[in-house]
Amino acid sequence: MARLDATEMFHGILYPGHLHTQDSLQLAVKFQFQDTDVLIVSFPKSGTTWMQEIVGLISSRGDPHLSQTVPNWTRAPWLEHIYLAEMLNASPSTLRVLTTHLPSHLLGPALQGSKTKVIYVSRNPKDVVVSFYHFHQFTNFLPEPGSFSEFLNQFLEGEQHYGSWFEHINGWMGQEAALNLLHVTFEEMSMDLPGTVDRVSSFLQRPLLEDERNSCVQHCSFSSMKDNKMCNYSLVPDEIVNHSKGSFMRKGKIGDWRNMFTKQQNQYFDGVFNSKMKDCSLEFVWEE
Ligand code: A3P
Repeated sequence: MARLDATEMFHGILYPGHLHTQDSLQLAVKFQFQDTDVLIVSFPKSGTTWMQEIVGLISSRGDPHLSQTVPNWTRAPWLEHIYLAEMLNASPSTLRVLTTHLPSHLLGPALQGSKTKVIYVSRNPKDVVVSFYHFHQFTNFLPEPGSFSEFLNQFLEGEQHYGSWFEHINGWMGQEAALNLLHVTFEEMSMDLPGTVDRVSSFLQRPLLEDERNSCVQHCSFSSMKDNKMCNYSLVPDEIVNHSKGSFMRKGKIGDWRNMFTKQQNQYFDGVFNSKMKDCSLEFVWEE
């Protein structure tokens, strides 16, 4: 199948040209945020879709109607996508929720001074790179990933689409004091989903009753989301994602990197990680 791997370079970062143009990226970095907006920010494969579901279900007080009838890209549109205006018009949500993979040095200026609620979702980068590798095989709008070893080196050098994971997390966490920002990790969602729903609902100032909270937890579990075509990307046509090569809701586990990394790759990764993250106080959970 022909790949849709046209590329846009924006401020030195590669983006898939199938989804982004210079105009759409420019509109994103100049976006006029409202104080009532919620912005989900992540590096790809960190649990973005999961957080879209959590926020949507909190906003509907646990009622799954919208999350089961409207695709997630309409409920929580991508800021930098060519479809932003269309999706914003179509979004039925009462709470305006936006999603982005842009780094803080590009989007931070548009957020300065606003009270927009920013939820930064991170995941341990060994699981990110493994999930990203499979995602490159699954989609047709990203380049063929080649061998895992080559892909891992490119990830560590920040040479892939969406830029450097290290710059992304260090940049956004460096904005924590300046923005109205909540940091949530994939591992926290995985190990304590009810606690995460509570933390996010409290940040959004939308406290839930116990049965509403339980309904959120039930509908954003891995098994519910895997079966929900409004968030499992099964609605995306075959020319855009290669359904025969896997599924978007792949494993959803902490520590899958152990199945891909060799001992040498792990040592090399740790060396680069320790040097690039030396000023970062975040603790990462690498396995369950
Ligand atoms: P895996 O490829 O490791 O399975 P993003 O939405 O940022 O692209 O992240 C996708 C990753 O989040 C995939 O990881 C996917 O399976 C996982 N994921 C999405 N929803 C999840 C859920 N409810 N529980 C666990 N993992 C989930």
